[in-house]
Amino acid sequence: MKVDFILNGEDVSCQADAGERLSRILRDTFSLLGVKEDCRSGHCGLCLVTLNGLAVPACLVPAFRVRGAEVVTIEGFKQTEDYEYIRKGFEKAEAEPCEFCRGAVFLSTAALLEERPRPETPEILENLSAVFCRCHDPESLVRGVKSAAELRARRMNFRANR
Ligand code: FES
Ligand code: FES
Repeated sequence: MKVDFILNGEDVSCQADAGERLSRILRDTFSLLGVKEDCRSGHCGLCLVTLNGLAVPACLVPAFRVRGAEVVTIEGFKQTEDYEYIRKGFEKAEAEPCEFCRGAVFLSTAALLEERPRPETPEILENLSAVFCRCHDPESLVRGVKSAAELRARRMNFRANR
């Protein structure tokens, strides 16, 4: 089956079986290796991407659901201004995620802050629970998200006052 979709802002097309998983397509067809795979069953969250703006585990998304959708991986997100404040926020909080979970943590943080610019700790913890992180304790990551939220809010204020 032909699958046309928007990937990191560009129109792309590929051939895939209807049930083939988006994580496989992204890694094998488009060489987007920032999409990590571990459990392949929706539990570790390491394959997280955004699909039409929602953070989802790509290993649970079959190819037929990708047709016409907009997909963003960490490679695409890195090109955005939003990536920078999230990266700096985590850096400032000394909670930078390693390569293993960085894409998933940053994309899920971006999706959360889009919806809840000033999230409370329980919301952040719930959001982070979708991603398995083996290096940081949850409190460090919460500090990172709060710090990113702070930088984002400052940037918004700066823009509003220009
Ligand atoms: S590989 Fe997709 S959630 Fe674990
Ligand atoms: S920082 Fe290494 S797995 Fe999260």
